[in-house]
Amino acid sequence: MNEELKKAICEAVKAQQEGCKCDFSIPEVELEHPSNNKFGDLSTNIAMKIGKQQGENPFTIAENLVKQFDSGLGQNDVKGMIKKIEAVKPGFINFYLSNDFFAANIKEILAKKDSFGKSDIGKDQVVVLDYSHPNIAKPIGVHHLITTLIGESIKRTYGFIGAKTIADNFLGDWGTQFGKTIYAFKEWGDRKEVEKDPINELLKLYVRFHEEADKSPELDEKGREEFKKLEEGDKENTELWKWMREESIKELKSVYKRLDVSFDYYNGEAFYNDKTGQIIDALDKKGILETGEGGAKIVDLEKDDLRIALIQKGDGATLYLTRDLAAIKYRTENFKPTQILYVVENAQGLHLAQAFKIAEMADLKNDTELVHVKFGSMRFPEGRMSTRKGKVVFLWDVLEKAKEKALKIVEEKNPDLENKAEVAEIVGVGAVKYAILSHNRVTDISFTWEKILSLDGNSAPYLMYTYARAKSILRKAGEAPKDFKIQSLEKEEESLLKKIYQFSEIVEVAAREYAPSHIATYAYELAQDFNTFYNKVPVLNADKDLKEFRLALVSATSQIIKNSMNLLSIDLPKKM
Ligand code: ARG
Repeated sequence: MNEELKKAICEAVKAQQEGCKCDFSIPEVELEHPSNNKFGDLSTNIAMKIGKQQGENPFTIAENLVKQFDSGLGQNDVKGMIKKIEAVKPGFINFYLSNDFFAANIKEILAKKDSFGKSDIGKDQVVVLDYSHPNIAKPIGVHHLITTLIGESIKRTYGFIGAKTIADNFLGDWGTQFGKTIYAFKEWGDRKEVEKDPINELLKLYVRFHEEADKSPELDEKGREEFKKLEEGDKENTELWKWMREESIKELKSVYKRLDVSFDYYNGEAFYNDKTGQIIDALDKKGILETGEGGAKIVDLEKDDLRIALIQKGDGATLYLTRDLAAIKYRTENFKPTQILYVVENAQGLHLAQAFKIAEMADLKNDTELVHVKFGSMRFPEGRMSTRKGKVVFLWDVLEKAKEKALKIVEEKNPDLENKAEVAEIVGVGAVKYAILSHNRVTDISFTWEKILSLDGNSAPYLMYTYARAKSILRKAGEAPKDFKIQSLEKEEESLLKKIYQFSEIVEVAAREYAPSHIATYAYELAQDFNTFYNKVPVLNADKDLKEFRLALVSATSQIIKNSMNLLSIDLPKKM
């Protein structure tokens, strides 16, 4: 709708320009939803822009455009969709959408169902998404939820607008910590025990390593030696490492399955080991590689306020940064992306900024746009953590806890429900997801279970409850809504219709800003408008014609809630 309207406005401006013999370029047409609906459903400031450009009174331009629009609208697609156009001072043009437009929108939703809102506006984009990326050989911690969920949602949203997406899990599967784990395994590990429960046992060994190293610092050197052997391709260490990696991915996949998250590739840091040499050569050729203390290779980024970037240690070992550079080159060459999105915590800002800058200086990225999609830290009710000390809050355990708490609520609210455990899983996991995704990602979050699982706040259970309510109305009505007409509208119906038709725009904004929270907030407001509507206006007991329309409205609302939740990877129970 907005695009069509913009085109129509452009035509009107062009027609007017022909009359005035003046010479000017048409400014970009912008449309917005006025926050006060007495200024219409959509409003443009185009007349003000033209007025400024030509030194003329914007209100007169607006009035003339409205006339132009009224007469010229006949040829245009938007004709039946606008019921009134108004010029207001100082020069806005306000548009009021017609009931026919709203009716057509509802019908389209009911026809397209789960694919309603899909578009092709992103069809020229190829988006590589770097998210989740946990460090292996230990269970994935709850702090990895944010990147995992935001990344997945951005992927789905880009897919929805027609972009090609590639989810690439840059596992932390290389580095000195594996030398420590290998040392600990050889020293204290019992192969049989470890094989029974690999990831938990490996974590225990890693923690033990740090405990012992506190007492005998020479252990650190042993850890480094084992890693060095691994780097040099030592057979035993390589096998151990491979096995740790496989077990880790097995376990990760079960977490991802529960979260309904998936990846196209698991090209972790180790995948880039044999590709770092090319990077060092490339930097050298560009003349940006310098030799620092102890023979280390560095790139000086002081003038960009990005300090000194360490590319290779004095002993020849490469670093996280070098592997990230190799990943940029590899992804650019193999996927030809328009963007690579790094869904990574704020704290790694300098690291990524260095990688992006060096990639640009050394021509490693062609035209690919590199974006750090940042997020703040998260404080879960379970407290803070440190892997080294073994104080980890495991992601799986948080989901278990959420499910357990949700089950209590379900048992209390609806003791007769048959599939309580299944519903509790959907509610619990969905609640945790929603709490993260509804939050403005850049700021820190602090959660409480009460808030996450609340039935009447801005929470997943509230949305699920609203959805179940709508579904139950539709079940009681029996048949799916058929054709309907809109006669006059109640205030609550009008608000709901206006909210519903904004879905596609919200998806666009969420994609553009890499911000799933827009979708979450939108769904919440939609649910609120729906509940206001339902509390004020009879549906099942309304007269026949009205009932058809209102059922269609209920059905469209439930569909839009569902489509929004799909983009957030949140499942919805049919009954609650
Ligand atoms: N594995 C790292 C961590 O857990 C995050 C990796 C982020 N991605 C990247 N390309 N650097 O902190």
